[in-house]
Amino acid sequence: MPNPRDRLIVALDLPTVRDAEAMVERLGDSVSFYKVGYQLAFASGLAFTDALIRAGKQVFLDMKLHDIENTVLKGVESVAKTGVTFLTVHAYPQTMKAAVAARRGSDLKILAVTVLTSYDDIDLAESGYATGVEALVARRAQQAHDLGVDGLVCSPEEASPLRLAVGNQMLFVTPGVRPAGAAHGDQKRVATPAQAIKAGADYLVVGRPITEASDPKALAQAIVDEISAASR
Ligand code: C5P
Repeated sequence: MPNPRDRLIVALDLPTVRDAEAMVERLGDSVSFYKVGYQLAFASGLAFTDALIRAGKQVFLDMKLHDIENTVLKGVESVAKTGVTFLTVHAYPQTMKAAVAARRGSDLKILAVTVLTSYDDIDLAESGYATGVEALVARRAQQAHDLGVDGLVCSPEEASPLRLAVGNQMLFVTPGVRPAGAAHGDQKRVATPAQAIKAGADYLVVGRPITEASDPKALAQAIVDEISAASR
């Protein structure tokens, strides 16, 4: 298990590279792992991930890829050469198979997103699915496991049942984490860092509670301390 500091992933959901640089500077040694998603990636953030990696940070590229197999394969091969640590794909069998094949021989780990947490049974029905969220999450988690995907993105409340289903090999990365007393924002189902760790999360993704804090570094350190205490 990595040390507690390396289990906190700060989501750099910020509009410009300048903002991201300033946040990374403020967080200093308290944070070693950053998530870059659409907002920053499409604002020259991909070049910034190279700078983060050169500075010794780990990067989670949250691109939630999904396309025909050949396109996923070639795209993931390119990501695997950059030194990125985690990359997300949607949990469709063809997509997962291509991503796993493309990351062979590199240190890149593929994380599957089973069902987006903003989807409920009605959204799935509208999208043409006959299954509800719970059954689809379980089915896709099992498929991810069987195809050799390295980990799952899951909510803290999904972590315990999924752990029972897929065993200890897969990494669980959980967003929706809020320190006790922090604003929930648009996250509906939240857990504290300690609750998420105890439920079986390996890595916690925390964005706004840290990036919008008056003292981001102190808050990040408090979360690392909570991870440390909860994993004893
Ligand atoms: O600011 P906050 O802590 O809510 O950020 C959580 C991060 O995790 C965001 O970048 C969001 O896109 C991501 N995420 C999520 N829920 C998921 C998957 C990813 O909140 N199911």
